[in-house]
Amino acid sequence: MTDKIQALINQLTLEEKAALSIGATPWQTLPVERLGLAPIIVSDGPHGVRRAVDPTALITESFPATCFPVAVALASTWNKELIYELGQALADECIVLDVDVLLGPGINIKRSPLCGRNFEYFSEDPLLAGELSASLIQGVQSKGVGTSLKHYAVNNQETLRFTINAVVDERTLREIYLAGFEIAVKQGKPWTVMCAYNRVNGDFCSEHSYLLTTILRDQWGYEGFVVSDWGAVRNRIAALRAGLDLQMPGPVPHSLQAVINAVKDGTLDESILNRTVDRLLKVILRAKETPKGHGTIDIDAHHGLAQRIASESIVLLKNDNNLLPLTGNETLAVIGQAATEPVYQGGGSSHIKATRVDKPLDLLQNRAELRYVVGDGYAFEVNQNHIDEAVTVAQSADAALLFIALPARIESEGYDRRDLNLTPHQTALIQAVAAVQPRTVVILNNGSAIDMRPWIDTVPAVLEAWLPGQAGAGAVIDVLYGTVNPSGKLTETFPLRLSDTPAYLNFPGENGEVRYGEGIFVGYRGYEARNLDVLFPFGHGLSYTQFDYSSLRVSNRFFTIDETLEVTVEITNSGQCAGQETVQLYIHDAASRLQRPPKELKAFAKVALEPGQSKRVAFTLDSRAFSYYDPAYGRWLAEAGDFEILAGSSSAAIHLRETVTLTSGTPLPSRLNLESTIGDWLDDAHGAALVQPLVQLMGGGNESASAGDALGVDMLTFFRDLPLTVMLNFQADALNVTPEQMVASMLEQVRIAAAH
Ligand code: GLC
Repeated sequence: MTDKIQALINQLTLEEKAALSIGATPWQTLPVERLGLAPIIVSDGPHGVRRAVDPTALITESFPATCFPVAVALASTWNKELIYELGQALADECIVLDVDVLLGPGINIKRSPLCGRNFEYFSEDPLLAGELSASLIQGVQSKGVGTSLKHYAVNNQETLRFTINAVVDERTLREIYLAGFEIAVKQGKPWTVMCAYNRVNGDFCSEHSYLLTTILRDQWGYEGFVVSDWGAVRNRIAALRAGLDLQMPGPVPHSLQAVINAVKDGTLDESILNRTVDRLLKVILRAKETPKGHGTIDIDAHHGLAQRIASESIVLLKNDNNLLPLTGNETLAVIGQAATEPVYQGGGSSHIKATRVDKPLDLLQNRAELRYVVGDGYAFEVNQNHIDEAVTVAQSADAALLFIALPARIESEGYDRRDLNLTPHQTALIQAVAAVQPRTVVILNNGSAIDMRPWIDTVPAVLEAWLPGQAGAGAVIDVLYGTVNPSGKLTETFPLRLSDTPAYLNFPGENGEVRYGEGIFVGYRGYEARNLDVLFPFGHGLSYTQFDYSSLRVSNRFFTIDETLEVTVEITNSGQCAGQETVQLYIHDAASRLQRPPKELKAFAKVALEPGQSKRVAFTLDSRAFSYYDPAYGRWLAEAGDFEILAGSSSAAIHLRETVTLTSGTPLPSRLNLESTIGDWLDDAHGAALVQPLVQLMGGGNESASAGDALGVDMLTFFRDLPLTVMLNFQADALNVTPEQMVASMLEQVRIAAAH
C-alpha cells in the first residue's frame, strides 16, 4: 500500500469506505470531494465504447463510438499486434468519452456453439483466448485506460446465467476454464477482473474465495480489483470476504448499511474493507493520472482500422475451383437483407451506437453490374416468393452473392441457441439459388458455428464474416475481389452436427446445474479424442495463395524440465499473390499417467509472405507447454517421456512433426500413503524397490507362476489395484507387526530416500 493510499484510508470514514466498495451509480464509483477523490466511470465493451449518456441510469442511450469487429472476429485474425492496435484505439475513444475502465475483454471458453454470447468470446482454446486477450488488455492499458477481464469464471452459457451451478472437476477447471484467464492476468495485468453471475461447484462466483483469492491473487499474483457483473452480488459481506471489491451496479443502500453494521458489530474485520479500498484506490488514482473527457474521436481513422481488422478476421472456409476472388467483370445477383441492413454486432450489453455503418450493396454498386433482391428478409418460415425472386436474378447473373445473417433473436447475450441451424427460409433460399447458379458465394454473419450440411456440398465458396463491426461491408468486398487476401482462421470448430459437440449431453444442464461431463475434451480436443470428423476444424482458413511448410527444427532432441525448447518452422508462399499464414504449433504427449487430448495448441505466429518468399518462424516452448494439471498433486506437471511437436495450418492439417524427449519430468513428492495400492508402490521411484520382495512373496513374481496358474491370471496384474496393507493382511501371521505398522515404516524409508 502506498503512503498516499494509506493516508487516504486513514482519512476516509467507515461510511465512505463502505460506499467506495459499491457503485455510486450504475457506471461510477463514489467521489469523495473533501479528499479530492474523483469517481471513475466504467463502460462496456468490449468491441466499442458504450458510454452511457446518463451514467446515473442503468439502461440509457450511449454516445456514438466506433463499432469494431466483435471478439470472435478479432480472434479469427490470430494477429496479436493488430489486436494491440485495436486496444489503443479503444483507449483513445475511452479518453474522449471520459471512460476510465472498459468492461472487456470477455474470454469465456466456447464450450458449446449454442452459447448465445459466443460472438463476444475468443475461442474454444484457452491458450489462444488468453494470449489474444492479453494483447487487447495491453493495448487499452498502454494509454492509461483500464480493462475488465470477464466473466470470471466458468460462464459458458446464457441459460440461467444468474443462478446456474457449473459443476466442473479441478483438472478441467484449471486446464480449460481458467487457463485463458491465467494467461491474460499474468501477461495482460488487467486493472480489473469481472466476476461472473453463476455458481461454480456450489458457490456464487461473487462469493468464491477459492476463485477470487486463492487462485486469482495468491497463485496468479493478481493486484487489481474485482468488480461484480451487474447484479451478481447476493451477499455483500460474503463477497467482501471472498475478494469481491466493487459491487455493481450501485447504489445499493442495504449493502452499504450491511457493510457498516458488520464492521461496527465486529462480524467483518475492518482490515478486509481496508484491503478492498486499497485495491480500489490504486486503480482510481492510476486512472486519474490520465485526464479524460477531451478531444474528438478520429471517426474515419477508426473506421479504417475497423475495416482492416474485419478484413483480417474473415475466414475463407471453402473456395472450390478458385471461384474467388471475383474478377470485377461479373454481373452479380446480390441476395439477402444483410446486404442492405447488415448484422454487424451482437445483442446485449456490448451493443454500440456506431458512428457509421457501411452496407454491402452500396459498396458493390460501385464495383459491378448487379441486381438485388431482399432474399430472406430475416423471415423464419420459408417465403417462396422471396426464393423465386432470388432464383430468377441468380439464374441470369454470372455469380450470386448470398448475404446470410443469423438474426439477433436467435443468438445474443441473455439466451442460447437451441440448434445450429440457419432459419428454415435461409436454408431453402441457399439451396434454391445454388441449384441454379454454380458460382454461388455464401457470406455469413453469425457469432458461432452453424450447421451447413443442407447446402455446403452445393455451394462452391463460403466466407465466414462473423459480426464484423461497422466497416465489415468494405472488408467483405475487399476479400471478394481479392483486394485483401483472406487470412482469418477459425478459433472454434465447426462440427458436422450438434450431437457431435462434446458438451451435447450436458448442455445447458437441468435442475439448475450444468455438469461439465466432457472434462478437458472441449472443442478440437474432444472431436479428435473421439475421432469425429468435423465440417471445418479449429485453425482452418483458406487463402488465395498457397503456403508450403518445411524443415521443422528443434533446439535439442532431448531436454530437461528446466530448459526451454526452441522450435523453428520454414514457411514459403508458393502461390501467385501475397498473403498471411498463421502457423500453429501443437504438442502431443506420447504417454501420460492422466489422459490427455491428442493435441494441444501451445504456440502460434502469423507471418506475411510475398509470392516465392520464405521465412523461418521461431517458437519457444517452456515446461508449461508440456504440462497438464494434476489434481492429485494440486499443480501443473510434465512427465518425462516422448512428445511430438506438430506444426500445421489447422488442428487437422499437420504438415510437420518431430519427436522430442523430456528426459526429466517435474520433480514430485511421493504420493504413497497407507492406502496406496501395490501398483502405486511399483510406480513410485523409491517405493518400487521396497515392495518388490513382498510382491514376489505374494506370487507377483516369476517363481510363483503356479499361483498364477492356479487362478488362471497374471498375479502382478491381478494384484496391482490391491492396497498394500490388504495384501499384507493375507499373510499377517508371518508378520511380527501389524500391516499398517509395516507400511508406515516403509513410508518413512521412502521419505528418507526421497529427501536425499
Ligand atoms: C452485463 C454483462 C457484462 C456487462 C455488464 C455491464 O450483464 O454480463 O458483460 O459488462 O452487465 O453492462
